[in-house]
Amino acid sequence: MNQESECRPITGKLNQKAALRITNLCKTFGKKSVLKSLNFEVPKGGITGFLGPNGAGKSTTIKIIAGLVAPTSGTVEIQGVLMNGTSSAVFQKLGIMFEAPAFYNYLTARQNYALLTRLQQNKVVDIDHILKIVGLSGSADIKVGEFSQGMRQRLGIGQALLVQPEFLILDEPTNALDPLGRKEIKNLIQHLAQTEKMTIFISSHLLSEIEQICTHAVIIHEGKILAADAIDALREHGVQTLEDYFLKLIEKENQC
Ligand SMILES: Nc1ncnc2c1ncn2[C@@H]1O[C@H](COP(=O)(O)OP(=O)(O)OP(=O)(O)O)[C@@H](O)[C@H]1O
Ligand SMILES: [Mg+2]
Repeated sequence: MNQESECRPITGKLNQKAALRITNLCKTFGKKSVLKSLNFEVPKGGITGFLGPNGAGKSTTIKIIAGLVAPTSGTVEIQGVLMNGTSSAVFQKLGIMFEAPAFYNYLTARQNYALLTRLQQNKVVDIDHILKIVGLSGSADIKVGEFSQGMRQRLGIGQALLVQPEFLILDEPTNALDPLGRKEIKNLIQHLAQTEKMTIFISSHLLSEIEQICTHAVIIHEGKILAADAIDALREHGVQTLEDYFLKLIEKENQC
């Protein structure tokens, strides 16, 4: 173990049945090192928060998991399968919503989903059921251009559900929403985890917000993992909230 990683121990035990395992993941853009040897796991079941401030490296990590960005080094395993460009089968169990998902504004919600399922050659998908889960049944035939930001975010989550995933990754799903919209999205995420039994990995720069619904958290700062563990275990570090813990970790980090 090098001196740098000694300063930043990763808590939590290795889980053989992890939904996601990230090992020594590095990414540089030109001369800029954005991910600095990330190591963490997302356990199967529950909601794991991927938490860190703006620019910490959350979206870059998610794009690498999705196979959209190549890592400089390191590996990604999803449900025990090493992702190497030929692992398409595992993507059939993985739903991903990226930041600010885009839709055709001149098509309705139902038409957008129909187009996506046709393009992805999915198995038969019950679009009405997905619209119901995300609370858009009543707006199914309205053009997306008329949707509020909250409705768009729900449409984005529904788009990730079209593959009928066991594992759902959401990049900042509460971004740009008002308090009511954020509450609705959090309720929806809890429903997906508890009733639909999905494993959920959700990124946010609002630690206090997501803490309320997460069972586990991975804390990232400037491309480094500061902590990864069950929420209850993280709170045992003599702090009231995850935000306090984050600030404590940063203070320690600056002393290293
Ligand atoms: N294609 C790229 N080329 C160069 N730098 C990039 C590229 N993509 C991301 N970065 C840089 O990588 C760093 C991490 O960006 P990333 O989008 O992963 O952060 P984030 O944690 O998702 O932030 P936010 O909370 O603002 O969404 C930032 O400094 C960003 O400018
Ligand atoms: Mg981001």
